[in-house]
Amino acid sequence: MKAKITLAREFKIGDIDKRIYGSFIEHLGRAVYGGIYEPEHETADEDGFRTDVIELVRQLNVPIVRYPGGNFVSGYNWEDGVGPVENRPKRLDLAWKTTEPNAFGTNEFMKWCKKADTECMMAVNLGTRSADDARRLVEYTNHKSGTALADLRKSHGYSDPWNIKLWCLGNEMDGRWQMGAKSAKEYGRIALEASKMMKWTDDTIETVLCGSSSRNSPTFGEWEAQSLDIAYESVDYVSLHQYYGNHDGDTESFLAQTLELEEFIHTVICICDYIKAKKRSKKTMNLSFDEWNVWYHSNDDPYERWSVAPPRLEDIYNFEDALVVGSMLITLLRHCDRIKIACLAQLVNVIAPIFTQTGGGIFKQTIFYPFEHTSNYGRGVALNPIINCPKHDTKRFTDVPYLEAIATFDEENESMTVFCVNKSLDENAVLDISLMDFEGYVPVEHISMDGYDKNDTNGIGNPYVKPHINEIPQIDDGVVTANLKPFSWNVIRLKKM
Ligand code: AHR
Repeated sequence: MKAKITLAREFKIGDIDKRIYGSFIEHLGRAVYGGIYEPEHETADEDGFRTDVIELVRQLNVPIVRYPGGNFVSGYNWEDGVGPVENRPKRLDLAWKTTEPNAFGTNEFMKWCKKADTECMMAVNLGTRSADDARRLVEYTNHKSGTALADLRKSHGYSDPWNIKLWCLGNEMDGRWQMGAKSAKEYGRIALEASKMMKWTDDTIETVLCGSSSRNSPTFGEWEAQSLDIAYESVDYVSLHQYYGNHDGDTESFLAQTLELEEFIHTVICICDYIKAKKRSKKTMNLSFDEWNVWYHSNDDPYERWSVAPPRLEDIYNFEDALVVGSMLITLLRHCDRIKIACLAQLVNVIAPIFTQTGGGIFKQTIFYPFEHTSNYGRGVALNPIINCPKHDTKRFTDVPYLEAIATFDEENESMTVFCVNKSLDENAVLDISLMDFEGYVPVEHISMDGYDKNDTNGIGNPYVKPHINEIPQIDDGVVTANLKPFSWNVIRLKKM
């Protein structure tokens, strides 16, 4: 097949906020205990953090990590996780039916963020707790000194405030599985009051209103409209969550689901703009896609009820999952004018790109690589590529372009990258990239992942699925020609010479 992409500087979609490459750590399964924190592990540092995990998080170049949940946060008392560890209570976690030992809490996570070169996106409990508890946490973490809560932090050994800038107002509050689930109007009210008081406590913070728990939620649309109608002027972002899975073995439809994702994003933008118009507001609401990934391999895995950190949601990702994750990243970048934050859910062990053995080794899942490539090379601005390629129908979708692509341009570093997935199961694509006004830019590298069976996976000591370097594509009269293998992830890097 032949395909063509046309690129020009004027095709700018928007600046890429680095937080679009965020991720997520929840007190769930072995994400914290046995994941980022394992004091007995041979690589653990003086704080009990696994340095082999930190090393891979750094490679992913994750600028922000959402914490401590997820469903967990809706029953969490942040006070249980601060102060001397020996005084911290063990609690039942009703979200995941486990026991939370509270050996790791807010201050430990903030320390870990510093070591992992990332920042925290903190979620507050608006399920079982109040707006006042939320604003008290802001005072504990962000107020310098001279109040009971700031001085409490100091007495715990943290004299400087953490200055956490981004705060989630609860989690998936529309879901019946959520502790303290609410109607849109109930949630709109508590979100408004919490956001208002949290910002009065620290006027440098930003807040994220919970959108629907997915596009399939029965109240999707109305939930966003009603809650935003109440809280619009106080909040800065509305959240989106979406996971995909190949439930019926239909690979072509699995890969085509980014069409649905595209529509989901578009609809949420329209709802935000409708509320803006209705209110004659000057403020444009941006989006925080703070949970997204492939998730379905581990749905029914057994575990011991009320145990501490049992393995949960430990999807082992295969090659086709990596292509879906790559396609989802491209879709998010296509909307970077409105999506300012996105979190790959999650980061370690729980539906994650990094997998550890408790007491043992570590490996990179297949989905690690598309994330690593976009996060490291997809900076600057996103350019809307005019794509000309054949389309096909799948069982669930019609007119699916074989090529999913985005280009990013980093003027400061004089570099440009084209990311693309060839969704054809059996056909090569000869891709012409026509550069309209990028004088001096030449291809320097073509990285790809291809040639694997869709079910191939990685494991400890078995880094089977991984990227490889191809011949550098030719350039002739401003047209770069690259060969994209069937069913492949591709990163074509250009530099100014
Ligand atoms: O990421 C796993 C879970 O998925 C989160 O706890 C919840 O917010 C979502 O339903």
